[in-house]
Amino acid sequence: MKFFVDTAEIDQIKELNDLGMVDGVTTNPSLIAKSGRDILEVTKEICDIVAGPVSAEVVATEADAMLVEGRKLAKIADNIAVKVPLTWAGLKTCKTLSDEGTMVNVTLCFSANQALLAAKAGATFISPFIGRLDDLNMDGLELIEDIRTIYDNYGYETQILAASIRSANHMSECAKIGADVATAPASVIKAMANHVLTDKGLAAFLADADKAGIKIV
Ligand code: G3P
Repeated sequence: MKFFVDTAEIDQIKELNDLGMVDGVTTNPSLIAKSGRDILEVTKEICDIVAGPVSAEVVATEADAMLVEGRKLAKIADNIAVKVPLTWAGLKTCKTLSDEGTMVNVTLCFSANQALLAAKAGATFISPFIGRLDDLNMDGLELIEDIRTIYDNYGYETQILAASIRSANHMSECAKIGADVATAPASVIKAMANHVLTDKGLAAFLADADKAGIKIV
């Protein structure tokens, strides 16, 4: 499973990228606003750091205007994936941009039917939002499973990009289901390293090393 980091914070991207933990980046208008940076500038900077796809989202709602924005975003770098919302206008924009050879990430997906439409519109990525479904007592991971089944039934090449990931557990569950990509905040990716038994075991090893006076350098 590929890891995308869901942020527009340059320091976080650099740190994970240096460790080989970043196969791509996703941003959205809320994350860009949080960074306090200009969207074109910060997106270009991210594209220069990360070799994989960098999603940048349109803010227009009509297809014609989305297309103008999408084409402008696509010009930032070769690794841009234009992010469009899963609306009828977004699907139209997806089809046109995909036909032009631009990667498209269709976002705000909350149902298997929406994911089916995105695949037919030629989306490179579909972004089902796990956490926001879980917040409503619905099952975000079940949606990932349903989309996996549907795409595999028909050989759709659209990649499932599990989004709105809130916990390390979501990451392993997505990998078990076979999501192609999971995008998560840097804090969640880092939390995947944590285990209470690792901490406990390390404390015991260090106490023994201290008692025995073990020194390596
Ligand atoms: O970028 C989309 C997504 O990952 C948003 O996550 O936590 O705002 O639901 P969240």
